[in-house]
Amino acid sequence: MYFCETFNKRIFALNHTMQGLHTTRVEGSRLPQIDFDNLPFGSTFADHMFVCDYRDGKWCDPRILPYQSLSLSPATSALHYGQSIFEGLKAFRQNNGRSVVFRPEDNHKRMNKSAERLCMPAIGKEFFMDGLMELLRIDEAWIPKPQGFSLYVRPFMFATDEYVGIRPSENYRFVIFCCPVGRYYQSAIHVKVSDDYVRAFPRGTGYAKVAGNYAAGMMPLKMARQQGFDQLVWLDGREMKYVEESGTMNLFFQIDQTLITPIADGTILEGITRDSVIRMAKDAGYKVEVRKISIEEVFEAYNHGRLLDMFGTGTAATVAPISSVTYKGFRMELRPTQERDISQYLGKQLEQIRTGEIADPYGWNVPVMP
Ligand code: COI
Repeated sequence: MYFCETFNKRIFALNHTMQGLHTTRVEGSRLPQIDFDNLPFGSTFADHMFVCDYRDGKWCDPRILPYQSLSLSPATSALHYGQSIFEGLKAFRQNNGRSVVFRPEDNHKRMNKSAERLCMPAIGKEFFMDGLMELLRIDEAWIPKPQGFSLYVRPFMFATDEYVGIRPSENYRFVIFCCPVGRYYQSAIHVKVSDDYVRAFPRGTGYAKVAGNYAAGMMPLKMARQQGFDQLVWLDGREMKYVEESGTMNLFFQIDQTLITPIADGTILEGITRDSVIRMAKDAGYKVEVRKISIEEVFEAYNHGRLLDMFGTGTAATVAPISSVTYKGFRMELRPTQERDISQYLGKQLEQIRTGEIADPYGWNVPVMP
């Protein structure tokens, strides 16, 4: 009952055209040229983008344009001082042919939390949600059909003042563009626990989706990749003792029959896939603990044969099994992925909810109205 009401309200709320929106369509779509059998993540772009600007204290000038380069002054404030935030979400083509977008209102809320932390203006629902839905309506044909594919949606906001002094910008731009994508990780990944650099520290920006968090991780990640690892696992910035997250994902550990994920108390991104996984796991009867977990505890469990699964969650990564974890030169090899009941179940459940193969009891899928 709750689900039906929510669903109908959403259709009503989102099925209208945004006031003042100016749309310029492409003359010919690039879609027929796209090779879906060869689709590297994040480098193929759909035909259109949504843009609006913040000036004189309000968001204005919403427009849908052909996907194109932005023209920026060299003095653009975001390029110097990093007032730049982003989100990631996905739209799916369901088996009945209809398209849905997954939990977009949660991305809107999180974007405004990030904006607050970087002293940027909140973006109103009428720009974020309506801009997103209009864009998806226009580029709906870009939402891929085959299993394992989706349309990755990237909303972002950045400071546009032409000014080299340090102060919060007075002008901003908000843009949404989309990329058809396949899997982010093609197979289970090998991770290294970073024991020399940290990603975040208490009262910093760790919980926010700010561009600088990712920039700070790139040099340590590059070194780890040179050693053959796919990703890093970050420890807390104070004691370097507790596991926080991986570069692209939140983390989950199965120790005995309990699923444990680090508590998001300021230094960890509050992942929307993380939240979905916690809810699905609890509803399936798994015991879930959201708490601090030290790297020693993970090792201890491994040494006693109690570390049964480890995986990451993220919009891009979905539910990504981890094959090995290396800390200070010691490598923990996990069981083959097909023997891991929890991550197999959660990955499949999430996929099936999104594609409509099973019911969505949570109201996570928001329909894209044609
Ligand atoms: C996402 O999962 O949406 C992210 O922002 C991470 C990035 C690897 C694409």
